[in-house]
Amino acid sequence: VTDPDVEARRLASEALQEGDRTGWFERLYLAAEAGTATVPWDRGEPHRMLVEWAQRKGLDGAGRRGLVIGSGLGDDAELLAGAGYHTVAFDISPTAVRSARRRYPDSAVEFVVADLLDPPAEWTRAFDLVVESLTVQALPGDVRAEATVRWDGSSPRAARWWCTRPPGAATVTRVRVHPGR
Ligand SMILES: C[S@@+](CC[C@H](N)C(=O)[O-])C[C@H]1O[C@@H](n2cnc3c(N)ncnc32)[C@H](O)[C@@H]1O
Repeated sequence: VTDPDVEARRLASEALQEGDRTGWFERLYLAAEAGTATVPWDRGEPHRMLVEWAQRKGLDGAGRRGLVIGSGLGDDAELLAGAGYHTVAFDISPTAVRSARRRYPDSAVEFVVADLLDPPAEWTRAFDLVVESLTVQALPGDVRAEATVRWDGSSPRAARWWCTRPPGAATVTRVRVHPGR
């Protein structure tokens, strides 16, 4: 297995050269499934900042709906489900969705394939909590702006957790939390 970051960058530049702006994610998850690459952001557990925030808030999702954007291998979605949210988690990569279901075979999470730039209409204002971690920042600049406009402020009545990292920065530097209802 090659250096995961090097392999991810190689797959990304290959897809971008072909004009495919997000296709490298699927290629990477497929390679990881085949054992020829590893997923650099696979922590095997929810993002530390999400865990800390949930603990601080005493997160209670009973009777509420949660959405995880770019859910990858499903760890953040499991945290939401564990807190009681009826959780939908989506990723553009079918292999990521399949891998998340395999990682959490008894999960109550609804893992689905969807595109954050073209989400189903019924998701509009349908969630009490929307979690995004390290996904928008991984997109090319022009798409990133479109994604931010689409999701930031899309659910004024809901709690939103938005974790982002300016491109090139080594650590997460900005977290905006909007209190829920
Ligand atoms: C850098 S990874 C982060 C994964 C996960 N959120 C985490 O923190 O571990 C970005 C994820 O977003 C997904 N993704 C990329 N573009 C997407 C899009 N347009 N719609 C939905 N998911 C997307 C990728 O497949 C990948 O799983």
